[in-house]
Amino acid sequence: MARKRILSGMRPTGPLHLGNLHGALANWKNMQDDYDCFFFIADWHALTSDYDMTGPIQGYAMDIFIDWLSVGLSPDKCTLFVQSHIKEHAELSLLLSMITPLPWLERNPTYKEQIAQLKNKDLSTFGFLGYPVLQAADIIMYKANGVPVGIDQAPHVELTREIARRFNHFYGDIFPIPDTILTETPKILGIDRRKMSKSYNNAIFLSDTPEEVRNKVGQMITDPQRARRTDPGNPDVCNVFSFHRLYSDEQTIQRVDRECPKARIGCVECKQMMAENLITTLGPVHEQRAYYEAHPDTLRAIIEDGDQRARVVARETMDEVRAAIRI
Ligand code: TRP
Ligand code: SF4
Repeated sequence: MARKRILSGMRPTGPLHLGNLHGALANWKNMQDDYDCFFFIADWHALTSDYDMTGPIQGYAMDIFIDWLSVGLSPDKCTLFVQSHIKEHAELSLLLSMITPLPWLERNPTYKEQIAQLKNKDLSTFGFLGYPVLQAADIIMYKANGVPVGIDQAPHVELTREIARRFNHFYGDIFPIPDTILTETPKILGIDRRKMSKSYNNAIFLSDTPEEVRNKVGQMITDPQRARRTDPGNPDVCNVFSFHRLYSDEQTIQRVDRECPKARIGCVECKQMMAENLITTLGPVHEQRAYYEAHPDTLRAIIEDGDQRARVVARETMDEVRAAIRI
């Protein structure tokens, strides 16, 4: 039987951090052996909020692409591409906009949230309201059966399902209705104990140098009850310990778990051990990054190859769509 197809994308609004690594990227990597995977950089989607400062978008797009390759997404197993290179997304989005009722977009929870949150941005644009229509085009273009996303994106996949059903109802059964595949949220927090996020300024990035990693780990908030070196700590509520669980060996994890509650290890030492293990883990990722930065032609060829494979599918879909709509 043919493998099921999944598709997901990321907006190039900044470098990827450890939260992305243990969330979306780990999930994508696990799926690449079992599914026919399409992963893409949603650079047009980045325009919906950053239309007034487009300068960094292409650089971020390349950075994210390099991060994908560096952590082990394989261009042999997945189709990795860039949204704006496949102009068919724009055409399908336009056609879907004709059948998408305005109230569906106006009641989209992420739309309301973002408008409320990003007060310093004028988001009362056509493009921002239509964000989920473009996303629906991204997804159904490749007839994806599943869409791995975090919970924040679930309403957009729900809208995609409704738009696909409506298309099929008007023009014939062309599109499968895609399932949401929820990505577990990673168990680590930012250095200030809030959710790790670029916009909170609390993230450790995949591309951070060892010096930056040491610096940020040094600033991490530990067990808030442990004010002094002589106070006992509780690893179970400490974010540094969550990091140990991901990056340290079993012996170190057990030692911290044993000694922290007895105040036999201090947070400074505990953090230093963790930082070095994190740096070791990031080593191979940095080596890969350095390779692609030194070989831009190789990178370009990989992107072009992914674009080409995506384009073949997109063209087939659009032929079907135009025939169904008779235009
Ligand atoms: N909106 C998604 C995000 O911000 C990015 C995205 C665009 C996407 N198109 C998509 C995700 C299609 C999954 C499928 O994370
Ligand atoms: Fe957290 Fe380690 Fe300090 Fe314990 S010793 S509170 S686990 S940083």
